[in-house]
Amino acid sequence: MANQDPLVVFTPSGKRGRFPVGTPVLTAARQLGVDLDSVCGGRGICSKCQITPSYGEFSKHGVTAKEGALSEWNAVEARYDEKRGLKPGRRLGCQAKVQGDIVIDVPPESQVHRQVVRKAASARVIEMDPATRLYYIEVDEPDMHTPTGDLERVARALRDQWEIEQVTCAFPVLTQLQPVLRKGKWAITVALHRTDASATPQIIAAWPGLHETGLYGLAIDLGSTTVAAHLTNLETGEVVASSGIMNPQIRFGEDLMSRVSYAMMNPGGDMEMTRAVREAINTLAEEIAREAGIATSLILETVFVCNPVMHHLLLGIDPVELGQAPFALATSNHLNLTARDLELTALPASAQIYLLPCIAGHVGADAAAVALSEEPGKSDDLVLIVDVGTNAEILLGNTTRVLACSSPTGPAFEGAQISSGQRAAPGAIEAIRIDPVTKEPRFRVIGCDKWSDEDGFWDETAATGITGICGSGIIEAVAELRIAGLLDPSGLIGSATQTGTDRCFAEGRTNAYLIHDATAEGGPRITVTQGDIRAIQLAKSALYAGARLLMDEMGVDVVDRVVLAGAFGAHISAKHAMVLGMIPDVPLDKVSSAGNAAGTGARIALCNLAARAEIERTVRRITKVETAIEPRFQEHFVAANAIPHATDPFPELGKVVTLPVVGFNTQGDGSDGGRVRRRKRG
Ligand code: FES
Repeated sequence: MANQDPLVVFTPSGKRGRFPVGTPVLTAARQLGVDLDSVCGGRGICSKCQITPSYGEFSKHGVTAKEGALSEWNAVEARYDEKRGLKPGRRLGCQAKVQGDIVIDVPPESQVHRQVVRKAASARVIEMDPATRLYYIEVDEPDMHTPTGDLERVARALRDQWEIEQVTCAFPVLTQLQPVLRKGKWAITVALHRTDASATPQIIAAWPGLHETGLYGLAIDLGSTTVAAHLTNLETGEVVASSGIMNPQIRFGEDLMSRVSYAMMNPGGDMEMTRAVREAINTLAEEIAREAGIATSLILETVFVCNPVMHHLLLGIDPVELGQAPFALATSNHLNLTARDLELTALPASAQIYLLPCIAGHVGADAAAVALSEEPGKSDDLVLIVDVGTNAEILLGNTTRVLACSSPTGPAFEGAQISSGQRAAPGAIEAIRIDPVTKEPRFRVIGCDKWSDEDGFWDETAATGITGICGSGIIEAVAELRIAGLLDPSGLIGSATQTGTDRCFAEGRTNAYLIHDATAEGGPRITVTQGDIRAIQLAKSALYAGARLLMDEMGVDVVDRVVLAGAFGAHISAKHAMVLGMIPDVPLDKVSSAGNAAGTGARIALCNLAARAEIERTVRRITKVETAIEPRFQEHFVAANAIPHATDPFPELGKVVTLPVVGFNTQGDGSDGGRVRRRKRG
């Protein structure tokens, strides 16, 4: 390359080099390793290679780009512009040729490794590096004189046109290859999948001509109670539809251990549960594709994150070993499978399935996904990550070490096993405040932004009514009862006499608190009963005890920050969670929400092949702590039963909330029988 050759500078990468006049921009980009996409290999038909040339004086780059620095707009570009429209100033990189010094911007949508914002509130991004990519090829026609198979000529085209060696072909695709080649008149698009960066690529789909209807993947968070899926465009990283359904295995048992027992007690019970969940995933895939207006045949990859019991039942492995020590997994490694292996008939038979690795017998791929999304091992300060669900996954760590455990919280935090509990849906109470003086409640329901004592609330909620309490609502309700002095630290609700309010009423031998009575309009009577308090105490004690166990193992009494993950983690108020003693004491501004971190981890693994390798490495370095056989777990559990805690001080909480000292035990154990005193905690 002579020195007087034109200088080409690419932005945003800053890569630069000199190229002979007449070099296509795509070729220059390839030679410099600039991330510029192409599916058609420079034939001017895919439009993936769009670039924006800039003209003028660029002192930063030491370049003056004059008009005419690129070749004239050509017929291919004109045809594309006429058919599809090119944005003003855009050129096709494979058509525009270098004529003089030039600065060329590669817009995000033309970058293969473009970055996708994960969620509005977070600055973090997912870099696109999908395991499956599209390649357009022109294949030699068969020739009687040099007989070769169609697949061998496809492989040769990939080698000659894309420098991709030694491809293999999934069997279901091979059976369709001949008609596809002939229909495409020997021009086809193939989807090539790699299980890792160095693996042999495999053809997992083929279409006649240029395939233009996209490539999609599903990120599925397979939970004990719900199955949530994000349909993601594998070229752009955009989530095009999200949907969820109930896990039909609930009919075999609400929590994991009852499902394991079902498999133990009923011969063939494991297969019944396997069938149920696979059917549900098929239904979900069809529904979500319909919602997005795409064919299920375009969903070529699925990533699952799930706890170990769900993992085994999805795979068709009897989970019986997970129900007893030493809780042996059939495999803890990641898995690469196909839709056909898992009988996911809604997807193409050759669609690829990736299961994240499990951490241990009780700590699953869902916890691995949280680790991938929240990266505790990259945190300088000590972070406790709690993924709240029917089973809580808990991670504690920093750059030196990461620990993980899972704790059986049960479904109370999701509004199940609560007398007025319900799923988060319009009409459900999601937030509540109880006046400490009048003991009267006011609340907000899903679907209306107003509080119940604001003008317009009753009109706006007339359609849905007030139907029950969801998970975040019950947490707030219990915490507010405690703040208002209606609930004592042991978890007893006071009587009307003890508390001075008729909202507290006797129910059998215990008391309950009335939030809202809609019976006059034919609605429900929404109360918090003593049984509800007990269910929440059990759940929160399990969560706190799991966190404490990890802190013991780490040798610390405090953590620097807490991240609440899980679908409903986003809706939990930090203050109320701490009044309840769900999480260890930290300054309230050190409690943040990560939304559905397991689902985000699944999305990252779906969009980025390197992230799969990273989590496969990371899980090997995570120390697993087994709660089920650890005696200290029981001790922590019992101490955590009090609200907020029997022995652990909560000094940070004490700075913002004054908890009344009350006792409603009338059994003569020395408590003060309801006398209310106030003091500042801490
Ligand atoms: S590379 Fe396909 S249009 Fe340019």
